[in-house]
Amino acid sequence: MKQVEAQIPEAFAPLMREKYRYKFYYGGRAGGKSYAFADSLLLLGRTRKLFIACLREIQDSMKDSVHKLLCDRIAFYGLDDYVMRGDKIENKITGTRFVFKGLRDQDSQKIKSLEGVDIAWIEEAQTITRKSWEILDPTIRKDGSEIWISMNREEENDPLWVALAAHPDERTLVRRVNYDENPFCPEEIKIQAEKCRASAPDDYEHIWLGEPVRQGTTKLIGAAEVRAAFAPKMSGCSSPLIIGVDVARFGDDATVFCFRKGRWCYRFEEYHKLDVVEVANQATFFIREYQPQRVFIDIGGVGAGVYDVLKARGCGEVVRAVNFGEKAWQENRYVNRRAEMWDNLRAWLKGELPVQLPEDEELFNDLCCVNKKYDRYGRLQLEEKAEVKKRLGHSPDRGDALALTFAEPVYDNGRPKMYGNGNVTVEELFIDANANNNISW
Ligand SMILES: Nc1ncnc2c1ncn2[C@@H]1O[C@H](COP(=O)(O)OP(=O)(O)OP(=O)(O)O)[C@@H](O)[C@H]1O
Ligand SMILES: [Mg+2]
Repeated sequence: MKQVEAQIPEAFAPLMREKYRYKFYYGGRAGGKSYAFADSLLLLGRTRKLFIACLREIQDSMKDSVHKLLCDRIAFYGLDDYVMRGDKIENKITGTRFVFKGLRDQDSQKIKSLEGVDIAWIEEAQTITRKSWEILDPTIRKDGSEIWISMNREEENDPLWVALAAHPDERTLVRRVNYDENPFCPEEIKIQAEKCRASAPDDYEHIWLGEPVRQGTTKLIGAAEVRAAFAPKMSGCSSPLIIGVDVARFGDDATVFCFRKGRWCYRFEEYHKLDVVEVANQATFFIREYQPQRVFIDIGGVGAGVYDVLKARGCGEVVRAVNFGEKAWQENRYVNRRAEMWDNLRAWLKGELPVQLPEDEELFNDLCCVNKKYDRYGRLQLEEKAEVKKRLGHSPDRGDALALTFAEPVYDNGRPKMYGNGNVTVEELFIDANANNNISW
């Protein structure tokens, strides 16, 4: 076999030399990640027989994959022990083979073909959904198998970042490499980077230094507020109990109950595959046991059935139906109820007085995932749920359940002064709630 000298920047040396379950490289444009991963895999594949899977979230055709890069590098080093066979690359001498797959297309059957993988390379890992990751990680199960990740961070809560790099354990190598550590970085690229540094510092940090996009303009809820709400500070509150119920719409969604008393949200209960009556039974139990002042139920889908059952059981006083899609109470500010409730939740998190949420990564992702926009009347609108779901890998059930507890202000003083009792308009309620630092929420 022809001997070649590896041209791999020092920062990437651990790829070939060190043993970790997860090797997580991230950084900005032109850090040398793709080349170094390709070279390391090709050279390792000449030392012994390896089954290597090159993966990404979506791969509509081979040209989306790193196939071409690998072929270019084979040609560059002159590695004639490698041959291209259809969509595969194989080493004639060691028997190493590379396959290329999109995770989005893998169902539980197809993914089984990856069980013998020695090294999985996930390229453009910022696009991997949590769902894909949860299927892939246990599939790469061969003894000593490794998962290599190359990522240009997109958001604070990129699912793989949260899963592996935010709090890495001893089985995980996390390294940031930027263009300034890439000895092969072309001059032209360096010039572009410097230009960007001078003209658009925020863009520079994201594009060239690998920082996530500064949130603020598009995110409804910021990571910092949610983290602050996670910090333990409260273990009780005398405000009335409000329960939000987000009822599963599709097979893979969960039914979630959220418990909140004023500034203290303390409990989430999640259920899978319950039918309408079972959800209603669970709700009835919570109503009897904890005597909430209000239970807000999302009736967008099958939740309508749950609401009907509860009403028939005499819980009509406590239970309120909420339709996310219907028009907001404050129509001039919000496109629909969903936007209104989520914005009330945002205001609650940002209020002057501290609030408490149970520390929960899933809740964190749900809350920080939702983007906002404005319609032509300047009303707040949330990104379509299907979009959120695509990014998150599941629907933000916990976030929705919490948002539901903000459907209407509920007052402390005995019977709630709900709209429709003739004493107060809905607008007055909202103004009051907001003026009181959201204490009344
Ligand atoms: N080993 C190498 N030999 C020669 N050139 C290299 C090598 N590694 C990187 N380069 C040069 O640096 C450029 C950036 O490298 P690469 O594409 O691997 O970076 P990246 O971190 O994957 O960046 P991006 O985020 O843009 O995908 C390449 O286009 C190539 O010109
Ligand atoms: Mg790359």
